[in-house]
Amino acid sequence: MTGTLGTEGTAPGDLALAAASAQLASTARGAAVVKGFFDPATSTISYVVHDPLTMRGAVIDSVLDYDAASGRTSTRSAEAIANHVRAEGISIDWLLETHAHADHLSAAPWLQKRLGGAIAIGEHIRDVQAVFGDIFNAGADFRRDGSDFDRLWSDGDRFAIGDLPVTVLHAPGHTPACVAYAIGDLVFVGDTMFMPDYGSARADFPGGDAARLFRSLRRILELPGETPLFLCHDYLTPGRQEHRWETTVAEQRGANVHARDGISEDEFVARRRARDAELAMPALLLPAVQVNMRAGRLPPAENNGVAYLKIPIDRL
Ligand SMILES: [Fe+2]
Repeated sequence: MTGTLGTEGTAPGDLALAAASAQLASTARGAAVVKGFFDPATSTISYVVHDPLTMRGAVIDSVLDYDAASGRTSTRSAEAIANHVRAEGISIDWLLETHAHADHLSAAPWLQKRLGGAIAIGEHIRDVQAVFGDIFNAGADFRRDGSDFDRLWSDGDRFAIGDLPVTVLHAPGHTPACVAYAIGDLVFVGDTMFMPDYGSARADFPGGDAARLFRSLRRILELPGETPLFLCHDYLTPGRQEHRWETTVAEQRGANVHARDGISEDEFVARRRARDAELAMPALLLPAVQVNMRAGRLPPAENNGVAYLKIPIDRL
């Protein structure tokens, strides 16, 4: 089941990830409380992060369950998040996406109806919308200017979750629009890196770029060694059969199989390309991107009231 297997982590302090230098500035202002929700169908971790002083919070990378065979959506994963938010008494200000996911549908609009909050993603979602709007031959109803989202982030943008300061770090490579969120002392890295024994995210989707991914990933690893990093996926490895989604800068720098200290950009790119060449397309890529490029909303219903997804033949 989609459950709340997650860690509850707290970390003191306040992290500011400066756009240009990725330098850490610390002022003790409170502690972020984090709960991870693991979706076994897609190995995605969604998070609820809140400020315990103000009880304001954010949901990061929510999942709308989707059965590809029947074309049926369900909300068990999103309900687990909503139940946690209500049980804790959290007021949701933000529904944050680290990128337009290719492996699961976002539940942000479903959660927004029930919990409120603004749906936000990196501004380069426009690039993703242009590419996939073309691939799916989306009609004029599909706006490619990012306006389906409530807020678009630029690199270095700052906002707050209650009293917790947040800095947005543009982290392209897996997709052009990927961002990481530095919330207090914690960094939600999206699909830049995975656990040290698994390595990094693929960089072969349209708009992906292994060299940019390496630079994004290493930029995050310039942060202090103790900085906690929260991942968007965990796929396990032959040597590890228990899901984990929290690591640190120091662990990644010491042990990441693709990008630890000492591995050059050229070496990373060669390994990444070799690995990507072996990977099949994610099972939900076509439904996921069509929905997530619309901020998690289905295409408009046809005249019978039913929404349809397209499958472009021989296009990808
Ligand atoms: Fe992804």
